[in-house]
Amino acid sequence: MKILGIESSCDETAASIVEDGYKMLSNVVATSMHEHAKYGGIVPEIAARSHIESIIPVIDEAMKQADVGWKELDGIAVTYGAGLGGSLLVGVETAKTLAITKNLPLYAANHVEGHVYANFITESNLDGYKLPDKQPDFPLLALIVSGGHSQLVFFESHFNYKLLGQTTDDAVGEAFDKVAKLLGLPYPGGPNIEIAAANGDPDKYKLPKARLSNKYDFSFSGLKTAVLRLAQAEVGKSYDFPSFELSGLLSEAQKADIAASFLRTSIETLVDKTVMAENEYNPKTILIAGGVAANSELRLQLTKRLHAELQYPDIKLCTDNGAMIATLGCFMAMNNITPVDPYKLQINPNLSM
Ligand code: KG4
Ligand code: ZN
Repeated sequence: MKILGIESSCDETAASIVEDGYKMLSNVVATSMHEHAKYGGIVPEIAARSHIESIIPVIDEAMKQADVGWKELDGIAVTYGAGLGGSLLVGVETAKTLAITKNLPLYAANHVEGHVYANFITESNLDGYKLPDKQPDFPLLALIVSGGHSQLVFFESHFNYKLLGQTTDDAVGEAFDKVAKLLGLPYPGGPNIEIAAANGDPDKYKLPKARLSNKYDFSFSGLKTAVLRLAQAEVGKSYDFPSFELSGLLSEAQKADIAASFLRTSIETLVDKTVMAENEYNPKTILIAGGVAANSELRLQLTKRLHAELQYPDIKLCTDNGAMIATLGCFMAMNNITPVDPYKLQINPNLSM
């Protein structure tokens, strides 16, 4: 069973072929991230235009790298949501056209589910991937954290899951990106906040943690505003002082302390809720997925505080990629999920789990 996975929900144009839901034959990612860096965040129109330029070469390269011809494929899986409308359209229309012209079944993949399935890849001949020895055991708890999502999901088995909580406003990665911008650090914020925080005192400032009616939901917009107010107060300005002028007035030490305090508070929030869910649901495996899963403090704190085994994908499979979608597609096919009609599939930018 060989499935071609196509992913274009944000700023990565990606394609991959995965065999039998565990063996990654190819993984090709083109990113337009550098084009967005000067704006401090993704510009949807730029992302969509870049997908149009990259999608065919990326798919060609994925077929070549896997040394697989169209006749050897058993299906195509494509991300149809959640994501940016213009970006999703490019992947979905390409996948529909290929499914029709190559006469292949088409599987409609949920991007957030895809992040979870990155953890099922255990084998590859490609260089530079550190893969787990075995696939995760069910029941499993998944913390999916990226620039677009913060979700805590309990899986009884494949495609049988319960969404325990999600963000009520900003995703955690988005908060990292916005705080980084305020501190004058480049996009993407996550890795740069980690670097700045290494020289700071995580206990210097007390920042708020949101309390929500569903204890597994997240909210990061209050934390983001608290960082803005703190930075304004530190440089002796009032709350109407523009955020883009703050980084020029903050000292390096102040920036490091703010980054460290923000990092501690945001990671503690994620870890506290994951620990609470472990105690209630007793999973065999706990997975982290999404771009923020690359955060070393998150991995460290979870390893310290959880009882169940913690699994996370190679860093190249944490961020958006086609292999996670191809793997999910394999499991859809293996679990007899009906393919979609390629003439009817529509994008769903607000798709939830
Ligand atoms: O999964 P991803 O590539 O794209 C989305 O679907 O959003 O995640 C990107 C996000 C960005 O917000 C970035 O700042 C964050 O992941 N990120 C990190 C780290 N590396 C990337 N956040 C915290 N710590 C990191 N080391
Ligand atoms: Zn993602």
